[in-house]
Amino acid sequence: MQTVPFPDARVPTRTHCLLPRQCTAIVEQRFIALALFGDDNNPMKPLNSVPLEGAVAVVTGGGRGIGLAIVRKLAGLGARVVLTGRDEALVKRIAADLTGAGRRADGLRCDVTDSHEVEVFGKHLQKTFGKVHILVNSAGIGGPSGELHRLAPADWDSILNTNLRGVYYMIRAVVPLMIDSGGGHIINISSLAGKNPLPRGVAYSASKWGLNGLSYGAAEELRGHNIRVSVVCPGSVNTEFSSHAGKSAERMLQPDDVAHAVEALVTQAPQSFMSEILLRPTQKP
Ligand SMILES: NC(=O)c1ccc[n+]([C@@H]2O[C@H](COP(=O)([O-])OP(=O)(O)OC[C@H]3O[C@@H](n4cnc5c(N)ncnc54)[C@H](OP(=O)(O)O)[C@@H]3O)[C@@H](O)[C@H]2O)c1
Repeated sequence: MQTVPFPDARVPTRTHCLLPRQCTAIVEQRFIALALFGDDNNPMKPLNSVPLEGAVAVVTGGGRGIGLAIVRKLAGLGARVVLTGRDEALVKRIAADLTGAGRRADGLRCDVTDSHEVEVFGKHLQKTFGKVHILVNSAGIGGPSGELHRLAPADWDSILNTNLRGVYYMIRAVVPLMIDSGGGHIINISSLAGKNPLPRGVAYSASKWGLNGLSYGAAEELRGHNIRVSVVCPGSVNTEFSSHAGKSAERMLQPDDVAHAVEALVTQAPQSFMSEILLRPTQKP
């Protein structure tokens, strides 16, 4: 029997490869596939428009930028999305807007650098949903631009505490719920700065190199629990994250491009594990 990506979510997974010869690979799962599609052997039937129906997804930094695009994408795929950030009013408003549009979303304050707040958040997830299938760690900060030897220790701390320690806190809070759910997918939004040197942004770059290392190691630890840990490393994305001085906003990656990569990760077939996506703009911005 196949390994199931989100067993508790009762997710029907159908992967159709529309190659020249209309090769159609259908990965069937138990649960509600038949209820949704009837005869699942018919390759001409439409793809499931809500492939994450029943799944609970947590997105940190979901109030704006890349995180917000991911929230909208996952909600559109049918997941119940819990979005977090430090701006409580903002995440609650977004959740209300999504709910008003027929999606399922909850907005909660959670500062990822505060271990106590993350623990309380984990307990809330346990009490309210009892399970979590997807965790996207998108919360992040860039810090000031400048040489490392001039960086204030407080700035070093906030960058590393948000971009790296915060992910560890979230994993600590959410993985037990994922294990109880029978599996899941953790997606860490890293950066090409976690693959390359970044002069005048060394602390940021170090946090993302660290995040990549964390992701590769956690993936090995958790695969036995049917949990995939993937990392997405985009180049410059058109958000408020930084001024992106001298770059063309149109040529830059857009938040939805990153959300599209996340969609590819969470809808892949259960036996497939895309562990890393490097995302570049087609033209240099
Ligand atoms: N934009 C780019 O060029 C780019 C490129 C590669 C990778 N990335 C990565 O993509 C991720 C998202 O970036 P973005 O472009 O979407 O930036 P953004 O628009 O500035 O959004 C950052 C998000 O992180 C949240 N956040 C920051 N500190 C937090 C904390 N301590 N606790 C909880 N949430 C916190 C913010 O919400 P609150 O302020 O309300 O807390 C906000 O929602 C980051 O990890 C970044 O490193 C960005």
